[in-house]
Amino acid sequence: MQNLESEQVDTLIYNVRIATMSGENLSAPTDASAIAISNGKIVWMGKSGDDCPPAKARFDGEDQWLTPGLIDCHTHLVYGGHRATEFEMKLNGASYEEISQGGGGIVSTVSATRSLDETSLRAESQPRLISLLKEGVTTIEIKSGYGLDTENEIKMLRVARSLERNHPVTIRTSFLGAHALPQEFENKDDYIQYLVDEVLPAVHKEGLADAVDFFCEGIGFNRSQCEIICQAAKKHDLPIKGHVEQLSNLQGASLVAEYGGLSVDHLEHLDEGDIPALKAADLVAVLLPGAFYSLSETKLPPIEAMREHQLPMAIATDLNPGSSPIASLLNVMNLACVQFKLTPFEVLLGVTRFAAKALGMDHQIGQIQLGFDADLVLWPIETPAQLCYGMNLVKPTLVFKAGAVVNE
Ligand code: NIG
Ligand code: FE
Repeated sequence: MQNLESEQVDTLIYNVRIATMSGENLSAPTDASAIAISNGKIVWMGKSGDDCPPAKARFDGEDQWLTPGLIDCHTHLVYGGHRATEFEMKLNGASYEEISQGGGGIVSTVSATRSLDETSLRAESQPRLISLLKEGVTTIEIKSGYGLDTENEIKMLRVARSLERNHPVTIRTSFLGAHALPQEFENKDDYIQYLVDEVLPAVHKEGLADAVDFFCEGIGFNRSQCEIICQAAKKHDLPIKGHVEQLSNLQGASLVAEYGGLSVDHLEHLDEGDIPALKAADLVAVLLPGAFYSLSETKLPPIEAMREHQLPMAIATDLNPGSSPIASLLNVMNLACVQFKLTPFEVLLGVTRFAAKALGMDHQIGQIQLGFDADLVLWPIETPAQLCYGMNLVKPTLVFKAGAVVNE
């Protein structure tokens, strides 16, 4: 793999400043300024100049920055309708929880999503996907959770999977049946039993879920109910993620840790004392500043303590019609700096290496390293902090998905 000087590669990108995202600073551990790609993988890194391998296609980066493709590791981008009316209710003082308890919130999006067939649901979801792709996002996680029965959860996940076939993006799906109680059930325990007996097995049989998620919250499900979901996920050998400690602390994060999950997401109400257990379980804390912003939250996640314990922090849009109607990872990266006081480097790690880890894909994407997928973005910037410091100021020059330019 190293000795390619005489072999022709598919693509050479040279004269670039490379944010490898592999080490303690942007470009560590290499001072390479050129990379070669074959068969969609990074096969060589070195200095620009005569020693570069011959290539079928060559791109002069003109001293711009090259980052890994961005990864949005927590979205709900497949859904029907919108919740602008609830937005106005919130502006008039109603809380997210009050709207939910009044029959709005997630279940109103369930009605809108159920009413669409697969084709219409894809058509409504596609523009949100495209908005992320235009920003250099090359991998997206998409959750179900607005179907809440076998037919409609499967429909959502099929739509999510189909987006990967029609666009230059890797999609990872999570089954989020335990998102809210659908109107046809009165009892949460009965619904959880239905999920583990019927819905998850049907979803799994079609290979539609890469992970299992749940909403551990007063307006979602309690810890014991979420534990039943975790047991079912284990039975099907699926990794676990959790919406935890968003509006209150039900000890959902420690549940994900006990079950050896991938990530704990939201975390505004996480106790600092729980962080060592999350670190010991090798979890990623997925922070969602778009939801914090849209819900006008005031309680911040315990970020300084996470930093002290070196808990990996990922950043994602949480793109959904209620708590985070934001189809822009770059804008959320700005929110992560301004509201959560993360550094631009932490944020960039959060949408590359640690976002990959939150999806269990950290040996394949999220870094510019030999053997990794050639998902890359060339940016017309002088410093990577420019990706975070404003909104709608920067767009990629080139986006490479598995080595192919996809933004022309
Ligand atoms: O991640 N917290 C629960 N689920 C979503 C919100 C979904 C919705 O409001 O439609 C979230 O914030
Ligand atoms: Fe979410």
